[in-house]
Amino acid sequence: MFKVGKINIEHALLLAPMEDVTDIAYRRLCKELGADVVYTEFVNSDGLIRSNKKTEKKLEITDQERPIGIQIYGGNLEPMIEAAKIAESRNPDLIDINAGCWVKKIATRGAGAGLLKDPYYLQSMVDAIVKAVNIPVTVKTRIGWDADSINILDIAKRVEDAGAAALTIHCRTRTQGHSGEPDWDWIPRVKEVVKIPVALNGGVFTADDVKRAFDETRADAVMIARGAIEHPWVFREAKELLNGIAVNQVSPYERIHTALRHLRYSLELKEPRAAIIPFRKYYAGYLKGLQNSKDVRQLLYQQLEYAPIEEILLKYLEQINTFEQIDNSN
Ligand SMILES: Cc1cc2nc3c(=O)[nH]c(=O)nc-3n(C[C@H](O)[C@H](O)[C@H](O)COP(=O)(O)O)c2cc1C
Repeated sequence: MFKVGKINIEHALLLAPMEDVTDIAYRRLCKELGADVVYTEFVNSDGLIRSNKKTEKKLEITDQERPIGIQIYGGNLEPMIEAAKIAESRNPDLIDINAGCWVKKIATRGAGAGLLKDPYYLQSMVDAIVKAVNIPVTVKTRIGWDADSINILDIAKRVEDAGAAALTIHCRTRTQGHSGEPDWDWIPRVKEVVKIPVALNGGVFTADDVKRAFDETRADAVMIARGAIEHPWVFREAKELLNGIAVNQVSPYERIHTALRHLRYSLELKEPRAAIIPFRKYYAGYLKGLQNSKDVRQLLYQQLEYAPIEEILLKYLEQINTFEQIDNSN
């Protein structure tokens, strides 16, 4: 059971924090498609205490996304405590501490996965933040720095002792980055040593993966990152599978109309260019498996306004329907 503050969900599905991905528009969409809890991208503690406008913007959340966690990162105690208080003032349902980021300039400066190298410091940080705020504090981490220094059992106990309300484990080491096999076997082992809810992360791309993760590890929650960029319906499909309902393939109609809806959500919040250029990373996923989608994608990449994008996609949908009719009549 993923019980964190007022959140109390069995087989919880979490949308992972992702830099430049999990903004309000995308979180809203994933929520509509079945994500139970969503997270902001990581927010830099130093930027927050300097009142950096771009950093502060990352704290924006809306009620329709709840429950939502704001994730903060940093390697120094005082700025992290201050950042947690600032994040709390935005009224999220929880604050998540990033102890898993592998990026060199972050991890080698003692933040993100760098905290795995100093378990006592991580414990003090969690302890101080838990005491400084009145909402649940959770931690997202990895199994260790590298294959020779896997210390997740010690980390988990420390994080629990410090008062964290839950722990998410990306089942890879820092050295593995985002590739290599995640080792889910650590989840049941961690669950033996702590009582707080444990969320599994890493290598979950499909509804089948979600079910396997719950069945094999007894995780309290499963967190999905890249799988949701390519296929945001993974949350709905996983719920259908877990509830014994037949999982239907996403139709071309739904693919195209979901893409447009997602883009419109983005345009409600951003200037056209700021919404449309970053949106390019989603086209491959939305159009996956559709006929001749490569040419359509190339055309979409050139657009800077909503109207032509809509026109291209709706025309393409008509073509797909025609292809299908021809296929069916043969
Ligand atoms: C584009 C991208 C941005 C990410 N940004 C963050 C982040 O801000 N905070 C964080 O804790 N992890 C971040 N991650 C890591 C993911 O949350 C997740 O731990 C990792 O991708 C493994 O999960 P997956 O196999 O489901 O992709 C990011 C990953 C990606 C691909």
